Amino acid sequence: PAITYVLPDGTEKTIDVPIGMSIMDGSVRNNLPGIVAECGGGCSCATCHVHVDAQTRALFDEPAGEETDLLEFLDGADGDSRLSCQLIVTGECEGIRINVVDSSA
Ligand code: FES
Repeated sequence: PAITYVLPDGTEKTIDVPIGMSIMDGSVRNNLPGIVAECGGGCSCATCHVHVDAQTRALFDEPAGEETDLLEFLDGADGDSRLSCQLIVTGECEGIRINVVDSSA
């Protein structure tokens, strides 16, 4: 499915990310800026922070406790926040938009 990453500088990149891969993987494998993914997808670093609107959030599994705990103390996190390593792409993800937070600072 085609996923549009809205990068921290406002530019957009649309990438075909295979089903079963995470939103984080799709970004890292294409060298997009913003998502650092220090822990490699282990849900322990929070440097894969993204904002996702409610309609799009509904396409993914609810955050597990570990993710909610990390987001609670993360700068810039709000109700739209998710950790993109926990967002696994499905066939329903065609055309979605992911707002990438710059985690490289
Ligand atoms: Fe570390 Fe997502 S890559 S929490």
